[in-house]
Amino acid sequence: MSQGTTFTQYISALAAKDSSIPSSLLISVSNACKLIAKQVEQGALAGIIGSAGSGNVQGETQQKLDIISNDILLQACGKEASLAAMASEEMETIYPANAQGNLLLLFDPLDGSSNIDVNVSIGTIFSILKKNHAGPATEQDFLQSGKDQLAAGYVVYGPQTSLVYTTGQGVHMFTLDHETNEFLLIKENVQISPDTKEFAINMSNMRHWDQPVRRYVDECLAGVEGSRKKDFNMRWIASMVADVHRILCRGGVFMYPWDKRDPSKPGKLRLMYEANPMSFLIEQAGGASVNGKERILGLPSEKLHQRVSVVLGSKNEVELIQKYHLGT
Ligand code: AHG
Ligand code: MN
Ligand code: MN
Repeated sequence: MSQGTTFTQYISALAAKDSSIPSSLLISVSNACKLIAKQVEQGALAGIIGSAGSGNVQGETQQKLDIISNDILLQACGKEASLAAMASEEMETIYPANAQGNLLLLFDPLDGSSNIDVNVSIGTIFSILKKNHAGPATEQDFLQSGKDQLAAGYVVYGPQTSLVYTTGQGVHMFTLDHETNEFLLIKENVQISPDTKEFAINMSNMRHWDQPVRRYVDECLAGVEGSRKKDFNMRWIASMVADVHRILCRGGVFMYPWDKRDPSKPGKLRLMYEANPMSFLIEQAGGASVNGKERILGLPSEKLHQRVSVVLGSKNEVELIQKYHLGT
């Protein structure tokens, strides 16, 4: 479709040909994100900067904007007839919408909370699943493998507010036009280059990493003089949305691996509303996404707030890191 097509037109045209596309819910999510973008832009002017003084089920301090964004999504999507229930990073259990609905929505309402107060890019991540029975939704219904997602995407609130989504038919990017308050198409069928010279990891955790991650990063740092025979660059925004957006735009590899800080935790990031939707996008764009040894989209999901180790991005690089984990 031509550049400048609105997200609503785009998704409606696709849904006219393929009724499995959850178009109405996707449009509601996009509308919620427009409202979140307005709040984000206002920042201190809207009195939304700072801690909310509460904690979430993960034991993390909630920011005011975490809660505001969560409420906006609940409000905007709760009216959706097709939606049976929602689940979020900021809610311990599921939030019922319409019992007759056949869709489930998961979200990280505000990703990159530590960047809110310092005016650095943040985002919203979402994943849509099918409910596979007629009755009211239960938490169990959400525990599906990532490969069964109907749709996934994110909105990044950066210098531009951009929406990026997939329904399993490629990855498409839109940018919010403030004149019309519409997301307009900027790029269809985004593809990630298989090779890269850029990696993203929080280097301050180096001493806690496992050997395969240490080996990979050491080899990157060794540059042209080392075994990789090329110089690497490093970026870490600390908003997964912004780091993944950069990788979709110009390639790279993102890692938030398991580390020894808390060996009982499989990782920091959450499978259902961070790793699965991002992995769906990355694979659809020709990249790869693993937890070290295995493909993230194939992992069984055991609980709503399950954590996972994440390595994703340019295919050849991710496969090399996977090889180091498998010892092959
Ligand atoms: P959230 O703000 O939703 O809790 O997620 C933050 C995540 C992710 O966006 C980012 O990649 C990572 O935490 C940053 O973690 P560090 O501060 O440990 O680098
Ligand atoms: Mn997050
Ligand atoms: Mn969050």
